[in-house]
Amino acid sequence: MPFPQERPRRMRRTEALRSLVRETHLAPDDLIWPLFAVPGERVRNPVKSMPGVFQLSVDELVAEVQEGYEAGVRSVILFGIPEHKDAQGTEAYADDGIIPQAIRALKERVPGMVVMTDVCMCEYTDHGHCGILKAPRAGGPGQDLGVDNDATLPLLAKEALAHAKAGADVVAPSDMMDGRVAAIRATLDEAGYQDVPILSYAAKFAGAFYGPFRDAAESAPREGAGIPKDRKGYQMDPANWREALREVELDLAEGADMVMVKPAVPYLDILRLVRDRVNVPTAAYHVSGEYAMIKAAAERGWIDEDRVVLETLLCCRRAGADLVLTYYAKHAAQLLSGKKR
Ligand code: PBG
Repeated sequence: MPFPQERPRRMRRTEALRSLVRETHLAPDDLIWPLFAVPGERVRNPVKSMPGVFQLSVDELVAEVQEGYEAGVRSVILFGIPEHKDAQGTEAYADDGIIPQAIRALKERVPGMVVMTDVCMCEYTDHGHCGILKAPRAGGPGQDLGVDNDATLPLLAKEALAHAKAGADVVAPSDMMDGRVAAIRATLDEAGYQDVPILSYAAKFAGAFYGPFRDAAESAPREGAGIPKDRKGYQMDPANWREALREVELDLAEGADMVMVKPAVPYLDILRLVRDRVNVPTAAYHVSGEYAMIKAAAERGWIDEDRVVLETLLCCRRAGADLVLTYYAKHAAQLLSGKKR
């Protein structure tokens, strides 16, 4: 028997052969582009920890989204920074809030773009938590302060409804309250928005990778008397994969149309497990800290940014992501369509 019997290198000899047997592909319309909307006009505030990312007023946002659309991006997800924050996150569910304004402008000016919205309270509350806080009881020490799950649900549902009324194509709750998908679904249905799908941040981990986002959204949780300065009471422990599957199951049972795993690269094992078990579109969120790490290494000339970006996004797809949320969406789409380089 001649050795070796098999020569996998035969199929790697030319790019034409390699592309013939390529198992996974990355296209601009696999990407969802997160963007930050702020009040005002002609505002383009650079986010220090995320070079290339800006807080944008609605006029600037429209221009940016148009550029993304021209590059082939077909979906954005919007985050809002309100004029005022308060304990109840009032602007999160205001019909004339920053996100409804942005949705209306985008639906009018870039009608082909799928507009998703992040549904959460942390950008809108003065304490930076993803829901409203429990009222301190006269119980003395040992009482469980922090986010009030059940009191937060109707507010999240109201927020999702405000987005749907403004024309959002998809709402995406990222708060990690129990029961929020069901609460949002019921409210949307009752108001006649049965056709607005829910992309749930189903397996969202309380890790260290969201720091730059919290600069961008001005949403870092603040410490108060007895209130934790982190989100570990509602987001998941990075150590847990079985619990991630359970979160996904629960959200699907409550009516989620698509599910997400977040962050992406350190959690690709979770993504694969989820993808193998569910038959709904599954998304990976390549988060702010992951973006910042590539940017920082690229700025020092230590890595080839364009190649690392495309490889990272492709590997998310290979691990099971149908969709990838990434701050690199426009950049990657331009690379993929040959408009850059
Ligand atoms: C809101 C929300 C966060 C992100 C998406 N939605 C921040 C957080 O949970 O603190 C993080 C996205 C990123 O880091 O890119 N709850």
